[in-house]
Amino acid sequence: MSKLPQTSSGIVIVGAGLAGLFTALKLSPLPVTVIAAAPIGRGASSAWAQGGIAAAISRGDAPENHARDTIDAGAGIVDEKIALLMASEAPERIKDLLRYGVPFDRDLEGKLAFSREAAHSQPRIVRVKGDMAGRKIMEALIAAVRQTPSITIIESYAAHELIMADGQVSALEAHDITDAKATSTIRIPAWAVVLASGGVGGLFKVTTNPPQACGNGLAMAARAGAIIADAEFVQFHPTGIAGDIDPSPLATEALRGEGALLVNGEGERFMVDVHEDAELAPRDIVARAVFSEIEAGRNAFLDCRKKPGTDFKTKFPQVYSYCVQAGINPENDLIPVVPSAHYHMGGILCDAFGRTTLNGLWVCGEVASSGAHGANRLASNSLLEACVFAARIAEDIATTAPHRIQTGARKILPSKPFRRADEDFETIQHLRTLMSKFTGVIRSQSGLKRILSEVEAHQQQGNESSQIWNILVAARIIIVAALERCESRGAHFRSDFPEPQTQLAHRSYFTLKQINELSHVYLKTP
Ligand code: FUM
Repeated sequence: MSKLPQTSSGIVIVGAGLAGLFTALKLSPLPVTVIAAAPIGRGASSAWAQGGIAAAISRGDAPENHARDTIDAGAGIVDEKIALLMASEAPERIKDLLRYGVPFDRDLEGKLAFSREAAHSQPRIVRVKGDMAGRKIMEALIAAVRQTPSITIIESYAAHELIMADGQVSALEAHDITDAKATSTIRIPAWAVVLASGGVGGLFKVTTNPPQACGNGLAMAARAGAIIADAEFVQFHPTGIAGDIDPSPLATEALRGEGALLVNGEGERFMVDVHEDAELAPRDIVARAVFSEIEAGRNAFLDCRKKPGTDFKTKFPQVYSYCVQAGINPENDLIPVVPSAHYHMGGILCDAFGRTTLNGLWVCGEVASSGAHGANRLASNSLLEACVFAARIAEDIATTAPHRIQTGARKILPSKPFRRADEDFETIQHLRTLMSKFTGVIRSQSGLKRILSEVEAHQQQGNESSQIWNILVAARIIIVAALERCESRGAHFRSDFPEPQTQLAHRSYFTLKQINELSHVYLKTP
């Protein structure tokens, strides 16, 4: 664990995944403090990403094409200006990553190699050694951060509360995760906080995300008054590897791009009857089909025996090692799969510079909702969004910095008690099971109300100074947003409203106050 610094730089970044580290590097030489809920390099979804980064660089491609694919995938509610901005700035951000030393795959002439993924009209994904983009990008960024003296890292402290004063962010409270009872808490003064704390997958029993991604940032910002957008849209990846490993290891979509098939326990290729693109249909459609096979008792499997076949180990070294861990040899055996909570399209509302509705709070990466992804994120756009917005946020903060000379104390001080309790662990596991069951791939009003009453019961007994509080707040936001969207769109599927409704083709926006008011209405009505 890093030694705790005595003072804060005033600019504090929460999270040390791609979004957090890229922002810190782009802010250099401005001094920043990065706080990470795990030792740096661990606990961030970015390092687990197996896809790559989408960028319209190859001959014949253009940012407009990339933006169009992003808009089409987002099922009618992508912010088109944001999609175009993201696609247009992608090539510059790839150059940045190359400068930081990311070893993207090359073709025989030494030029960047581009692969194609479902719903992209062109080959435009840059990868590293097949399925190792996330890991290699993080290794390069961590090395760059370690050589940047303006960046101070506080490892193994988890932020749990945002402190506001006079309508402006003024500090952040955090606790030491190596202290079993979490009584060692600190207050870090800040005039600028960048939340880059990841998504919400950890709220679900079956997820591809690390446990740290449990909606903490979402809840902190909502409690401080920020507007939350599109919270109902959680993307379920169709092919998490089923079994006892938690979190569920990902079997990348690129396997299907290479010809792997989806079959059920009776050996039938069930996607052929579901969509003309079969295994390469949009991710939400494949996830629902896999879910239906499992619900019907037939189970679902990836068949990689013919393709990628014996190339598996060299083309997909990461998935291969996950399979071996799970006791599967993918060259001979079928891989059992299950839809797994993978990515939150919703999050804290932000503009084109990552600014939220709170003064002094910026958001980057999965915790943010910029409007780039709509109801269903296009594959390989998430690492891209993190890089594009990190650069924009750094520019915005650097412009603001000279006017924000901090006059008050900057000392990092011990703070008020906080609670992490063993009995909460049981509750969290129970909640995760219910989230997967009732707020998962297929939702309905009755199921959502059932889990809402559970959340309510736990909140009645709990208090704000505990780890479980943020988890309950984040869960409540997603559940109520899902109750409010009485239609099916992208990744949000309601069995009681199975069709999209034209008049609902817009984003959703809620404050926590509104979520709480709506909760009480739902809880009162039978
Ligand atoms: O299947 C995948 O490799 C996932 C990619 C992504 O979520 O962008």
